[in-house]
Amino acid sequence: MPVPIPLVIDTDPGIDDALAILLALASPEVDLRLVTTVHGNVELAQTTENALRVLHLAGRSDVPVAAGAAASLVHPQPERAGHVHGAAGLGGVELAPSPAAVDPRPAVVALAELLLTSPEPVTVAAVGPLTNLALLLRVFPDAAARIGRLVVMGGSATRGGNVTAAAEFNVWADPEAAQAVLGSPLPTVLVGLDVTLATVLDEGGIARFAAAGPIGAQAAAILQQYLDHARSAYGTAGVVVHDALAVTEAIRPGFLGTVRRDVVVDTGFGAGRGQTLVDRRTVSGAATAVDVAEQVDGAVAADFLVSRLSGLDRR
Ligand code: RIB
Ligand code: CA
Repeated sequence: MPVPIPLVIDTDPGIDDALAILLALASPEVDLRLVTTVHGNVELAQTTENALRVLHLAGRSDVPVAAGAAASLVHPQPERAGHVHGAAGLGGVELAPSPAAVDPRPAVVALAELLLTSPEPVTVAAVGPLTNLALLLRVFPDAAARIGRLVVMGGSATRGGNVTAAAEFNVWADPEAAQAVLGSPLPTVLVGLDVTLATVLDEGGIARFAAAGPIGAQAAAILQQYLDHARSAYGTAGVVVHDALAVTEAIRPGFLGTVRRDVVVDTGFGAGRGQTLVDRRTVSGAATAVDVAEQVDGAVAADFLVSRLSGLDRR
């Protein structure tokens, strides 16, 4: 077994964020060294509490949780996503409180310190609004430059939006931050709706890990509201676990088929605000190009997630 990849998850739990964190904990290929929280699906205080409780659910309250930005960089996010994730962000499921306290350092400080001291390259999976990563770029550019891989759940090249006709939620929540990050030279994989919507976790898969033990059962319970939302929003007979696919790419580099594209975020105030404009006319040679995920085997991805989550109760 090769040396596990040091991993940070920047997150706004969030139902699919919770599954993504559990997936990382179930995967020996990665060593989850830090969770940084950001506003997004629900308010920062709630996303932070949820991160602590999800780690505790899996017996990993040793993983530090550092709270980051409570609001977007420039303009406030128009609304949260309680109608999708539940008012408290975990589908109405009340997990047991963690014995761990939130890390006293702001997220960008904790992340910078980890990046500046890690001998191995660190992978950062950003599965919420990109406010923390944009702040890291501005406040600690030397630390940001040490990110080995940045895997972003966000945007859409060909599938339009999910929070508006044009915009995917994470980019829409803070378009200015998304532009700062996607327009930077950071080695970035963009895992957008093009591949996440093709990765549907069906009820049979959910039942598999639900039956594996108490952790799997809680994960399945958290998903139930998301399952109901997916049926009504996407008409899918299952649930789209966006963030878990991004973490799958972090765990298995190259799992997704990517093409280097120039990407611009619409930071205007028209109907397209928060849209990722992906130039699919050419393969880009620019230093600021983004590896945009364009191919996925959704069935393989869903089975990988189910298999790993089923293993949590056996660890
Ligand atoms: O568009 C999907 C993204 O928005 C996911 O990260 C989900 O958690 C929500 O934040
Ligand atoms: Ca998220």
